[in-house]
Amino acid sequence: MTDHQEISLDWMSGAQSPPPSAELRPEVPHPARMYDYYLGGKDNFPADRAAAEKVLALSPLVRISALANRAFLQRAVRTLAAEEGVRQFLDIGTGIPSAGNTHEIAQSVDPAARIAYLDNDPIVLVHGRALLAGAQQGSVSVLQADLRDPKAILTDPAVRDLLDLDRPVALMLFAILHFIDDADDPYAVVRTLVDALPSGSFLALSHGTADFIDDAEHASKGPAVYRSATAQLTMRSHAQVLRFFDGLELLEPGLVTAPQWRPDQAPQDTDDQVAIWAGVARKP
Ligand SMILES: C[S@@+](CC[C@H](N)C(=O)[O-])C[C@H]1O[C@@H](n2cnc3c(N)ncnc32)[C@H](O)[C@@H]1O
Repeated sequence: MTDHQEISLDWMSGAQSPPPSAELRPEVPHPARMYDYYLGGKDNFPADRAAAEKVLALSPLVRISALANRAFLQRAVRTLAAEEGVRQFLDIGTGIPSAGNTHEIAQSVDPAARIAYLDNDPIVLVHGRALLAGAQQGSVSVLQADLRDPKAILTDPAVRDLLDLDRPVALMLFAILHFIDDADDPYAVVRTLVDALPSGSFLALSHGTADFIDDAEHASKGPAVYRSATAQLTMRSHAQVLRFFDGLELLEPGLVTAPQWRPDQAPQDTDDQVAIWAGVARKP
């Protein structure tokens, strides 16, 4: 693995996260605002931009990977809303809802679509609530929740007020499951959420991978490399990510790298540049 490949995964990482606090502290770079900057969003401060530019100088793959993930999210939401008729979205690990987020795409198909954004980072909530102040009242919520406690999510009155869990829901887990360590049993987390949703619901997810690292020496010490580079990031293989879809019916083209999932035009980015598995599946 090259230094560039290591750094390209930086945007997925919580390594630089300051301690959880709802204080904006604009002078301290925040990973969610740096991610917003990579995506071309406006919810970032000079310190975030300066830190992000330093990362980009080391590896332009950071932005390529983040944009490819985001473009997949947008195509997936459009597919779910326009082709599959989904009108309810449970988007966990939403990040700062910058341009082209779930609610904008879903509500461009049907203004009545309802979206619950959940994140465990209080800074994301502060920015998210400010950004969504102009969004349709009552149809979009930004809530604090931890994916590792799926039962709390399912019983959260604010989630239940917004979403009717007796009707199909798209569960969206984009670039979040690699934050969930095996010790926290991410498969059980996803199963608990999917089990609570009715037939005709969907699971859409993206997940960082080290599958495209071909340097045998680096691959053999991969977890150590990633731990030093990106703290608690747990990369998973194609087979490991596929397991999240057990019992579900994957939509075409299956579990592929983000740029390969129903591209609008011929993908420019290669699998190893992006290093993200992407898939959408229906609950039978
Ligand atoms: C890389 S961002 C992804 C943003 C967006 N989903 C996307 O794909 O563009 C990951 C987000 O997951 C959130 N996150 C990480 N661990 C979480 C957890 N256990 N529960 C809820 N949110 C979490 C982070 O705060 C961050 O906003």
